Amino acid sequence: ERTISIAIDGPAAAGKSTVAKILAEDYSYLYIDTGAMYRALTYMVLKKNEDLENEAAVKEILSDAHIELVPSESGQLVFVNGENVTEQIRSHEVTNSVSIAAKHASVREEMVKRQQDMAVNGRVVMDGRDIGTHVLPNAEVKIFLRASVTERAKRRHEENLSKGFTSDLAQLELEIERRDKLDSEREVAPLKKAEDAVEIDTTSLSIQGVVDEIKKIVQERL
Ligand code: C5P
Repeated sequence: ERTISIAIDGPAAAGKSTVAKILAEDYSYLYIDTGAMYRALTYMVLKKNEDLENEAAVKEILSDAHIELVPSESGQLVFVNGENVTEQIRSHEVTNSVSIAAKHASVREEMVKRQQDMAVNGRVVMDGRDIGTHVLPNAEVKIFLRASVTERAKRRHEENLSKGFTSDLAQLELEIERRDKLDSEREVAPLKKAEDAVEIDTTSLSIQGVVDEIKKIVQERL
């Protein structure tokens, strides 16, 4: 059997990580959540009270940040310089600031290098915004997940409520739209479907439905 890499891109809250985790588990591949790396960096920048717009400052913080993604029962733990930031990086504050840290060219260059090193032996499921276009341009399987903003906001809302967090559906919809806009319109490696990616609209599909679609594509390439 071939050693392959699976790249999953798409807008915010499209279900990428949920689906990627299941695929990684089923194939015994390594799951790499690249969004978590940008979130971990953002967390560090906010903690140091640095200006997210200041590229040199953000890049310097990244240079000093040892970011680890550790597989666990629940999917993945995230550490920065030994600190477990798994929960902190999902905060409202990080979520609404991360696209600023992620727009800087020198930051992306370093992140892409680290991500390519993690994937060097294949057998990875990597999700993000630029995986099919920049990080793993030669991935055997490239998927681009889409879903309507309304559906994505609804899913995130239900997820929040199930975790016991307060959640405002209309607010979520606005925040998701804003993040998509920033990620799609930035100059460096914007969110974009790779030409050779297979697009799946998940609006009316179940999680298992999406997983099954992707597995069909994987079987063809193995
Ligand atoms: O996937 P997630 O929503 O956790 O990603 C958080 C943010 O990190 C995105 O909104 C985007 O700004 C940035 N990101 C990126 N490139 C990636 C993954 C995430 O720019 N490959």
